Amino acid sequence: MFETLEELPQDAILGIMTLFREDQDPGKIDLSVGVYQDEDGNTPILDSVRRAEQQIIASQNTKSYVAIAGNAGFNAQMETLMFGADHPALRDGRVSTVQSPGGSGGLCVAAHLFLRAKPGARVWISDPSWPNHSPLLKLAGLTLEQYPYYDREKHRIDFDAMLATFEKLDSGEIVLLHGCCHNPSGADLSRDQWDALAELFERRGLIPFIDFAYLGLGDGIDEDAYGVRLMAERLPEVVVVSSCSKNFGLYRERVGSVSIVSTGKTAAKIALSNASNVARGIYSMPPDHGAAIVAEILSNEKLRTLWHGEVGAMRNRLNLLRQLLVDKLAERHQERDFSFIARERGMFSFLGISREQIVRLREEFHVYMVESSRINIAGVNQSNADTIADAIVAVL
Ligand code: LMR
Repeated sequence: MFETLEELPQDAILGIMTLFREDQDPGKIDLSVGVYQDEDGNTPILDSVRRAEQQIIASQNTKSYVAIAGNAGFNAQMETLMFGADHPALRDGRVSTVQSPGGSGGLCVAAHLFLRAKPGARVWISDPSWPNHSPLLKLAGLTLEQYPYYDREKHRIDFDAMLATFEKLDSGEIVLLHGCCHNPSGADLSRDQWDALAELFERRGLIPFIDFAYLGLGDGIDEDAYGVRLMAERLPEVVVVSSCSKNFGLYRERVGSVSIVSTGKTAAKIALSNASNVARGIYSMPPDHGAAIVAEILSNEKLRTLWHGEVGAMRNRLNLLRQLLVDKLAERHQERDFSFIARERGMFSFLGISREQIVRLREEFHVYMVESSRINIAGVNQSNADTIADAIVAVL
């Protein structure tokens, strides 16, 4: 049977990670996969995570199943974290949340839910978007369309083109937005732009489907949550998918969630039963360990304060590295303006160089990035910034 299959090319992001691991050069630099790295190039376990993990190990007395919707404490804490404790949608019982295996698992549950509610559903994704959005959502059966988002020449959001596209959509169309730290461009919507989108979505009856994988890594928890909170307040139906991979550094534990904001309490109950039923049909139950860690951190004041400090330190460092890279490039090369990198947010920005230049960076200089020229800012540090800037300028 399997002779009908053909070998596929490597994954656009994880394939580069493999190439990096195979490179024996001691000076190699990884700016590819979206994983936070500290000054020494390590991806540390957060202190808050380690402490919560120790508490769990000391007190856990069974490995029996938890529930289809996962850890109830985690789900409630994630709702409060994303929407804010006194959000009207939470107060009105309009939100139902299911823990998922990472953000990807959450996207998959949401996709199946859309198709169940609306057979043949299509979703509009930004051009560009996270490279795995398209294969993941298509595999679940959705039809995808693209809306203009990032102007690669001007290095900014093409907001007029985006609005013009949304103005033409029919009521009930689903639009995937990035809550903050747009992956791959780093170009985030301003508050005014979120306000304008909320007005348009309300008027045209569009449904926001928000990928919220980088909460806390842009400008701050409340700042990054502006769009999600606004949409959930203004619109009758919103779907938000979160990930704890980056902000809690729990990558391999696969922790995420999908929250459905519904028209009212009864609709929320129906949404929960369907999301749970979908989850049961795909993977039965999410893994517990990472979610138990997040629940422990967010429900314990000391650990929560510690985590706020840790996520704040990652965020501040990312923003400093953005400026560092811009400065290093400007010192070496005045003809090209890279200052947009310092205005963008989160882990990523596009360098805006050609595929040929990207391959040269990899093969001649051992500097790895995704083939769209997306760089992971966290891969830059005080000791490699000069090398990175030299290499980029050498291939320009
Ligand atoms: C990324 O965009 O690099 C991360 O989200 C990791 C992944 O799974 O692609």
